[in-house]
Amino acid sequence: MDLRLKLFISTFLLSMVFSETRGPGTIKKQFIGPFNPANQEFVVPGAGGISNGALQVTPDSGGKDYHGLFNQSGRVLFKDSFKLHDKGARVASFNTSFFINIQKLSITSGHGEGHGEGMAFMIAPDLGLPPGSQGQYLGLTNVTTDGNATNRLVAIEFDTFKQDFDPDDNHIGLNINSVKSKKNVSLSDRGIHIQLVPEGAKNFTIWIQYDGGNKTLQVFMVGEANPLPAGRRPNDPVMIADLDIAKYVSERSYFGFAASTGSAIELHCVLGWNLTVENLSEDEGLVIEAKIALGVGVALLLILLAGWWIQRTLYKKYKTANDPTIRGTLQSLPGTPREFRYRDLKVATDNFNEKNKLGQGGFGVVYKGVLSKESLQIAVKRFSRDNVKSKDDFLAELTIINRLRHKHLVKLLGWCYKNGKLLLVYEYMPNGSLDAHIFCGEEKETLRWDLRYQIISGVASALHYVHNEYEQKVVHRDLKASNIMLDSSFNAQLGDFGLARAIENGKTSYAELEGVPGTLGYIAPECLHTGKATRESDIYGFGAVVLEVVCGQRPWTKIGGFCFLVDWVWSLHRDGRILEAVDERLRGEYVAEEAERLLLLGLACSHPNASERPKTQAILQIASGSLPVPYVPPFRPAFVWPSAGAVEENIDSEYTDDLTVTISH
Ligand SMILES: *[C@@H]1O[C@H](CO)[C@@H](O)[C@H](O)[C@H]1NC(C)=O
Ligand SMILES: *[C@@H]1O[C@H](CO)[C@@H](O)[C@H](O)[C@H]1NC(C)=O
Ligand SMILES: *[C@@H]1O[C@H](CO)[C@@H](O)[C@H](O)[C@H]1NC(C)=O
Ligand SMILES: *[C@@H]1O[C@H](CO)[C@@H](O)[C@H](O)[C@H]1NC(C)=O
Ligand SMILES: *[C@@H]1O[C@H](CO)[C@@H](O)[C@H](O)[C@H]1NC(C)=O
Ligand SMILES: *[C@@H]1O[C@H](CO)[C@@H](O)[C@H](O)[C@H]1NC(C)=O
Ligand SMILES: *[C@@H]1O[C@H](CO)[C@@H](O)[C@H](O)[C@H]1NC(C)=O
Ligand SMILES: *[C@@H]1O[C@H](CO)[C@@H](O)[C@H](O)[C@H]1NC(C)=O
Ligand SMILES: *[C@@H]1O[C@H](CO)[C@@H](O)[C@H](O)[C@H]1NC(C)=O
Ligand SMILES: *[C@@H]1O[C@H](CO)[C@@H](O)[C@H](O)[C@H]1NC(C)=O
Ligand SMILES: *[C@@H]1O[C@H](CO)[C@@H](O)[C@H](O)[C@H]1NC(C)=O
Repeated sequence: MDLRLKLFISTFLLSMVFSETRGPGTIKKQFIGPFNPANQEFVVPGAGGISNGALQVTPDSGGKDYHGLFNQSGRVLFKDSFKLHDKGARVASFNTSFFINIQKLSITSGHGEGHGEGMAFMIAPDLGLPPGSQGQYLGLTNVTTDGNATNRLVAIEFDTFKQDFDPDDNHIGLNINSVKSKKNVSLSDRGIHIQLVPEGAKNFTIWIQYDGGNKTLQVFMVGEANPLPAGRRPNDPVMIADLDIAKYVSERSYFGFAASTGSAIELHCVLGWNLTVENLSEDEGLVIEAKIALGVGVALLLILLAGWWIQRTLYKKYKTANDPTIRGTLQSLPGTPREFRYRDLKVATDNFNEKNKLGQGGFGVVYKGVLSKESLQIAVKRFSRDNVKSKDDFLAELTIINRLRHKHLVKLLGWCYKNGKLLLVYEYMPNGSLDAHIFCGEEKETLRWDLRYQIISGVASALHYVHNEYEQKVVHRDLKASNIMLDSSFNAQLGDFGLARAIENGKTSYAELEGVPGTLGYIAPECLHTGKATRESDIYGFGAVVLEVVCGQRPWTKIGGFCFLVDWVWSLHRDGRILEAVDERLRGEYVAEEAERLLLLGLACSHPNASERPKTQAILQIASGSLPVPYVPPFRPAFVWPSAGAVEENIDSEYTDDLTVTISH
């Protein structure tokens, strides 16, 4: 049998094994009570535990000793983390439902009858519990940390004790990094009638539904007066809130429950819990499923993998040599860049371990690595499209970047080609990509103004170099904040030349590029019509980056009634208050004259008419202050296409390359 066919069949069988446990695109966990105290799926920091068949978020009375129940806090968390967002680019949806029981006890510490304090469903950055989180803090925060963005917490509280800041002792609330809710709904309201701590034992089911697409959170509850049979979700939510979890929680976070008691006590029991999270991660999710499919699943998997490995080894023998065209091309490259051994790169990146993944883009995945012999940190890009396209992608990027030498371009260290695997090795950038510093959430310090200015100047000089100074002119085609890397002193290093193409006539037919991922907001309007990348369209992308860096907003942000950042900034310019666009996180610590210069430059580069955009030479001079900012009309001119003036003729059309644009965020 043909080896490839066998391989295909193995893969097919493999996917059958998993199809039983895996829903399309989601990760499902189902925890059905009664819970066994030996259950290893939960981590229980704090005073709670697993007893009487329930997850006891704060201690259970055990029927006798009440003393240990006062002033306690605890959490019960599922032991594995979930990927919830990519720095805001994608946000996972999740649904959860749980069956709980908050039980009143017939004893208080002498302050009369009462119950407290409450519990919460939470998203947490780790599996710990802050000390001092008893009483009003619900196991979420404490007197020092309450309200601090470094908590990275989002929780739905079920609050049974009235504090000064609470509406009553029977409400739910949306808590972000604080026990003071952003939004609250009293359950005693007309039309809801739910008593969180009823007289006598009563179980409740609660559903929380979060949509990462429209960023809406909905909470549903079945109360005593609800006629629905247990287990059926009501149609109307008790609370709806707008919530972008990517702004608050860690990229990978944990789900679970928190609760506390004070001088008033109660029991906080979870009797059953379902959790479905959209699958954003690749390999990590597989790990979770593999654990579920244990026994038969894992055994089968091992057998299949063994078979696959044997076939692969055989297949290698068929392939006597590596593709000679690639090697030939590589050896004819000027300066012949260094060739790395595949084995060394594999060791350096811990076998391309997911945890070393730095990013994805331009047709490959980039991993961090350390060459221990040379104690050198590297970034390794592994090409990931199918074999034929990968070769073209690889050669295109290597040929271009190998010739470019500039202090604001990420430096290529070498390459590796082994058994069809194509890798490029770049200098490692310790401070990551620019977008991570602008859109870092509140936990990280925001990028200082002088550094922002320095970064923009660096990008401008890199762009000027690739467009003009280097003999073989190049268009980058994918200019955006995530492709601008930062070295240890926060100098910009333009990276990811995966889509870059030389625009020299004739010599550039690497491959037809299908589905080139342009990113909305960075693409010049004419590109959507011509499909051609030009130096002018690169400058449009540069303008989008400038506005992004100064305003601290993504180009496609809906803001001030506009769909794109550029339109909003333009309207502020018209109203003579352009400085209001400057990133609030700078708290006014910036140089007004510089900010205005950059904002106007950003607008000028975003001119809908490509031939009106400044050239890189002028951009450099404007950035350095030696040339005044070009005139920016008060209204953003309309984009006209096809125009009587034929825009295409006005732009340097000999320096173009085909670009099929598909839009992605
Ligand atoms: C959550 O539930 C809603 C309504 O049943 C459904 O449309 C959505 O796909 C679910 N989301 C996830 C991540 O399971
Ligand atoms: C969890 O899901 C199962 C199956 O859909 C259902 O029978 C059970 O009632 C759910 N449990 C909770 C707490 O929602
Ligand atoms: C609050 O929690 C933090 C850690 O989360 C801890 O360092 C601090 O000491 C705690 N404060 C109090 C008053 O317990
Ligand atoms: C928030 O916490 C961090 C570290 O835990 C601390 O450095 C910072 O000062 C705190 N911020 C406020 C406003 O308390
Ligand atoms: C809580 O709800 C009450 C009544 O709906 C409202 O007056 C109060 O401002 C809310 N508090 C917060 C923090 O939203
Ligand atoms: C609550 O749920 C537990 C566990 O499923 C069950 O043993 C108990 O009878 C239920 N209580 C009520 C009042 O329904
Ligand atoms: C968001 O999507 C959910 C479905 O996932 C829907 O129920 C809800 O109404 C939507 N909210 C808004 C504000 O569009
Ligand atoms: C709980 O803590 C509060 C405040 O620290 C204290 O006043 C109260 O006496 C404590 N209650 C018990 C029963 O220990
Ligand atoms: C998540 O999705 C990736 C790729 O789509 C897949 O490889 C992985 O197995 C999925 N994980 C789970 C738990 O479904
Ligand atoms: C930037 O990189 C330097 C050198 O590795 C490091 O010391 C510094 O902490 C980094 N800064 C940030 C904000 O990551
Ligand atoms: C674009 O600008 C050029 C040069 O200023 C001008 O000749 C042309 O008419 C303009 N095109 C449109 C459509 O406004």
